[in-house]
Amino acid sequence: MTDQKKVLVLCRIPEDVVARLDRDYDATFNQENVPHDAAQIIAAALGQDALVTTSTNKMTAEVIAGLSDSVRIIANFSVGYEHIDIDAARARGLIVTNTPDVLTEATADTAMLHLLGAARRATEGAALIREGGWVGSVLDFNLGVDLANKKLGVLGMGRIGQALAHRAAAFGMEVHYHNRNRLDAAREAYAGNAVYHTDSDSLLEISQFLSIHSPLTPETHHFLNAERIAKMPDGAIVVNTSRGDVVDDEALIAALKSGKLRGAGLDVFSAEPNINPGYHDLKNVFMLPHIGSATVETRNAMGFCAVDNLDAYFAGKPPLTAVT
Ligand code: DGY
Repeated sequence: MTDQKKVLVLCRIPEDVVARLDRDYDATFNQENVPHDAAQIIAAALGQDALVTTSTNKMTAEVIAGLSDSVRIIANFSVGYEHIDIDAARARGLIVTNTPDVLTEATADTAMLHLLGAARRATEGAALIREGGWVGSVLDFNLGVDLANKKLGVLGMGRIGQALAHRAAAFGMEVHYHNRNRLDAAREAYAGNAVYHTDSDSLLEISQFLSIHSPLTPETHHFLNAERIAKMPDGAIVVNTSRGDVVDDEALIAALKSGKLRGAGLDVFSAEPNINPGYHDLKNVFMLPHIGSATVETRNAMGFCAVDNLDAYFAGKPPLTAVT
């Protein structure tokens, strides 16, 4: 007989996090990562006190309405929570938490990797060497562009945008940004003495590199469309490590094909993992499979953050990082 709270984990999670949940809760895991549709989530959640989930499980209004009354908290294992209908959760008094902060540095590293990968044509170089097509050093071979002395536009200057800006400044980039609110002077200094743009158009117009860090909301859906790409300098490079749907894929693909944009570094895609096939043959896109926060340290920290939220809630304290 146990009085441990029942926790259902809907996605595969790191073993260290499994061990902690196993020790402190009556936990059920999905380490085979079997996808659950709405009906399966509702059935599996019956009698559970808490759910741990991530973006692969869509917590729609229908799912939330169907959850057993016993479920009091959803500890989301990611900072992004656009896969959860927050209004529906609020309406039934369900706590939702996310995992901010702990993934800032890893995700900013990944954004930097994409800036470099796209600027230095890493996709072409890597393919050539693997396929045996490298014929030796030729002085005009596989030339990329420098980051140093280029203007970097950061769209969305939250924690990750600031950490990316900090890194980019160390690479000699001149940082500009647009955000709903201007940062205070200390944060701007940390973010490479970033220059604030009150409107996104003026940021786009100067962005030789653009790094997207906005969350996905109805306002940012397909923000980077053909009209906005047209405002950017010719030969600019776009990096996206936030959410795929902030970019209109067809517009980006057309601009990469026409040469309007020199390249792109993409970590996130609409309809992951079924990405727009238009990207498959584009050599000027450096692509990675949504690995922004995928380091051992960071994924453990995200998992522990989710469990810390459960611990706090079940101890009668406010969750540490609640979004409802
Ligand atoms: C997040 O935490 O939102 C990252 O994108 C990983 O899913």
